[in-house]
Amino acid sequence: MGNIQSSIEKINGDFKKKDIISLDQFTPTDLSILFNATDKMKKIAINAIPSSLLAGKIVTLLFYEPSSRTFGSFAAAIKQLGGQTVEIQDPQHFSSVSKGETFEDTIRVFEAYCDAIVMRHPQIGSAQDAAEAAFFVPIINAGDGIGEHPTQALLDLYTIYEKFNRLDNLTGVIGGDMLNGRTVKALIKGLSLYKDITLYLLSPDELKLSRQDFSNFQKRGINLIEINSEKDIPKNADFWYWTRVQKERFPSINDYEKVKNKFIVTKDLVNNYAGKNTIIMHPLPRVGEIDESVDKDPRAVYLRTQIRNGMYIRMALLALILEKA
Ligand code: CP
Repeated sequence: MGNIQSSIEKINGDFKKKDIISLDQFTPTDLSILFNATDKMKKIAINAIPSSLLAGKIVTLLFYEPSSRTFGSFAAAIKQLGGQTVEIQDPQHFSSVSKGETFEDTIRVFEAYCDAIVMRHPQIGSAQDAAEAAFFVPIINAGDGIGEHPTQALLDLYTIYEKFNRLDNLTGVIGGDMLNGRTVKALIKGLSLYKDITLYLLSPDELKLSRQDFSNFQKRGINLIEINSEKDIPKNADFWYWTRVQKERFPSINDYEKVKNKFIVTKDLVNNYAGKNTIIMHPLPRVGEIDESVDKDPRAVYLRTQIRNGMYIRMALLALILEKA
């Protein structure tokens, strides 16, 4: 499986039947269309308004890696809109992948039963490969190894937009695993569509962005400042975005132990460095890098709006792709 190709089709204002592989496909106009649709989906979900936007549609959730939020919110999103799901978790054990069926054949089999496939896979580039293998239905990338996690970035961008009513002129702090974290990469790509963005990247040296990613992101015009001490966190940040050190991407447990949880969000850190309007985000799951004492702080949105926005944005995305929004 190769790297994500630059030939992925742009959205260009029209989501119909498009694969969703990377934030590279989006413009600010596309994000506005998606966010407007998301506002409507939020009303449907909050007010329990019966919806048939996806009536008659079936979406396959094909997850080669574990997931709570992405799997659960896609499943809920489809059901909120009257659609149905084919749910395959761990196909390595619970599908004919275990008998040696190829990746391409697996995609072509499941596309025969549905209108779209949402796929998570450990290999970078796998979502693009699935899109090339599929004859008929769009593929939505729910995380491809250390590559991207576009729907997470879309919900993260929506969460920031919902709070500040803009996506330009923002300062953020991203903490944790820049090297292996796919949500970070997709979020940086998304924010780089907008002007005057400064991101402080707080991580141990071992978990910094690859030099290639760092250089590619900077070429997009985003201001990236790498820091390795909490003392360098700016006090005017609009958002903090903490991430888990991705244990499953390390060659050995010793390598992981050396760098895990070097930077933990505690009440003290928040009190000393966050502003009164700073929002504290995390794509989750967390494994100790945000202390539970921070959860009650009203600035902590990771178990509040951020998590709920995951379902709303996925409702909107599917409705737009399946031509019903
Ligand atoms: N944020 C996220 O992708 O969570 P899951 O791995 O639980 O889907």
